[in-house]
Amino acid sequence: MRIAISTGGGDAPGLNAVIRAVVLSAHARGWECFGVRRGFRSIMTGERTNPLDGFLALGPDEVRGITHLGGTILGASSHGNPFRWPKILEDGSVMEVDRSDELVEAFRKAEIGALVVIGGDGSLKIAYELTKKGVPIVGVPKTIDNDVYGTEATFGFDTAVSTATDAIDKLHSTAESHDRVMVVELMGRYAGWIALHSGVSGSADVILIPEIPFSIDRVCQKIMERESRGRRFSIVVVAEGARPQGGDLVLQDEAGVGRVERLGGIGAVVAEEIATRTGKETRSLVLGHLQRGGSPTTFDRLLALRFGAAAVGAIASGRLGTVVVYAPPEVKVVPLADVVGKQRLVPLDSGIIQTARSLGTSFGD
Ligand code: F6P
Repeated sequence: MRIAISTGGGDAPGLNAVIRAVVLSAHARGWECFGVRRGFRSIMTGERTNPLDGFLALGPDEVRGITHLGGTILGASSHGNPFRWPKILEDGSVMEVDRSDELVEAFRKAEIGALVVIGGDGSLKIAYELTKKGVPIVGVPKTIDNDVYGTEATFGFDTAVSTATDAIDKLHSTAESHDRVMVVELMGRYAGWIALHSGVSGSADVILIPEIPFSIDRVCQKIMERESRGRRFSIVVVAEGARPQGGDLVLQDEAGVGRVERLGGIGAVVAEEIATRTGKETRSLVLGHLQRGGSPTTFDRLLALRFGAAAVGAIASGRLGTVVVYAPPEVKVVPLADVVGKQRLVPLDSGIIQTARSLGTSFGD
């Protein structure tokens, strides 16, 4: 048996732990294991004279001592959708072409019996489309955003939340020393998981998430109400996907050929509104990719190792076209079809939202 692993989309802490678990579990069964580099790019680009060109042999030696390392030894790519591959035309313009058949053929020629695709919703959707073309796949849900449907957690999320909570703790010092409003924008795309979990844990006064469109008046009311109680500083946590009631997402970059839209900028907009309306000295920052970096937390390492071993278990038992998910306390396998094309957003009746409201936190609604 010969299997391959790919890490698509953005990186997340825990990717290397999954790779190690897959390689060691496969090795224990006497299987061969290969990595595909930078998403599917090492197969889609470069010369292919040999069926294994673009594949990297992975054995116990190649994955030694990597569980605690951030990033991915295979490299990642956010622009590697084989169904929507950017092609530069002679006039310099770019169009999308479907190169998925080439990829399917490359896997067939390399005699890959199963492919483990470690990715977020975008990569799992690609994986699902490839299964329809006959590629035997098991998915592993990865993203700091925690927005993959069907799993209670993705690995990477816990580490991102720890980083964000630590940042919020640190912002308290300056906020309190200078009587300022500090606005911090966090990642998460269209879901507010990172902002909610770190905002509550870091005692933010206001948490703005995509699931609850906010009123800037209500945000300022909360800040001034604190002021009237002698609390002359406030911490406002804003998810990058948060938007005002009746307003739009703030984007850094529109979607284009071979790339998705990039969110970002709402923190600065909120900060400016607060400064204008309250007269309070206000500063904003974007925590950005710090949330994707560093060593995975114990929770993420363990989840990632469990996911990797479970993916190999699923291949061994012939459960292909599936994805491993966390259904506490178990790691299970469900059909990819049940998971793709859906988003896992923060439910409005979430116990964590209720806890935050009981503590006096404002969601700007
Ligand atoms: O999906 C993970 C994520 O970090 C999002 O939270 C964020 O919106 C996006 O990726 C950033 O992507 P890039 O690294 O391409 O800027």
